[in-house]
Amino acid sequence: MKKVIRSIVMMMVMSLLLLLAACGGDEASGDESGKTYSFKLAHITPTNHMWHQAAEKFAEELENKSDGRMKVEIYPASQLGTEADMVQQIEAGSVDFGLITAAYMSSRSPSFAAWFMPYAFEDINAAHEARTSEVSKKILATLDEQGLVGLDYLFAGQRVMLFKDKEVTSPEDMAGLKLRVTPSPPMQDFYRSAGASPEGLPLPEVYAAVQTGVIDGMDMDLDAAITNKYYEVVKYGAVTNHMVWPSVAIVNKSTFEGMSEADQKLVRDALTVATDFAVNTRSGQEEEFRQTLSDNGMKIYDIPADAFADQIAEFDAKYKDSDPLIKEFIDTYRK
Ligand code: BEZ
Repeated sequence: MKKVIRSIVMMMVMSLLLLLAACGGDEASGDESGKTYSFKLAHITPTNHMWHQAAEKFAEELENKSDGRMKVEIYPASQLGTEADMVQQIEAGSVDFGLITAAYMSSRSPSFAAWFMPYAFEDINAAHEARTSEVSKKILATLDEQGLVGLDYLFAGQRVMLFKDKEVTSPEDMAGLKLRVTPSPPMQDFYRSAGASPEGLPLPEVYAAVQTGVIDGMDMDLDAAITNKYYEVVKYGAVTNHMVWPSVAIVNKSTFEGMSEADQKLVRDALTVATDFAVNTRSGQEEEFRQTLSDNGMKIYDIPADAFADQIAEFDAKYKDSDPLIKEFIDTYRK
């Protein structure tokens, strides 16, 4: 009889312990359903670019925060196709997450063009801060109708100009130059108003195009100039920092809305860690990147913002009229 009572007490104690463990579970591990996820995340940059490192940070954080319930497999370097292909796969649900350039997203939702307001931010820290503003969130919310959730913005360095053979120091020097500019209307408009002929080549085609003289230069960021070895094929680098360069972290809407609120929070928190990591790492690297490009034979120099005063005014006038969220963004950030 004693044995039976001891067994019953033991069972009750065990049950109580299990119940306590379930109720008081580690806050960071999200909901208690034990639901597991194997996510796929796609982006276009090579594995040594900051966006890939940030994607790895996101995967690591999410796995830790969820106590191993959520894993992320990363497909970098356009392995799953162009950004258009990736976004289609995310809409269809065969891929879950993407870090997609705001430049491409502006072709899906024109309000993203706001981010290409020239000389909007002092540096990428200021842009990183702006990503949580009301207007920035409203721009993300424009994706709701497209089967996507816009979660956050993740920055690479600001845009610079690389020239194959000519030391360009003003818009006047750009007249007639064929420059690769991401196929995004606001970016191309900026270059067109400076007198250049923008060519909308996707990233994987840029190296060969400049090497063979199909283009005379490109709009790029310093990080990508190094990771894609453009220093082998261009001589001049003008550090204009004329635009910021966000990717938009997107996720399939049904996947995200199918998760508990606690799990959605884990995703958002892991992304915040990744975006902070990217901007904190990147913001201190400009000098190092300039030096690396100089060490590889490029002439690196600055062009001050006031050289582009006319282009800035033209951009603001055109784009303020084009979309109410762009107007709100320009009114908020143009100092
Ligand atoms: C570009 O298309 O210029 C680009 C895309 C992703 C990261 C850096 C540059």
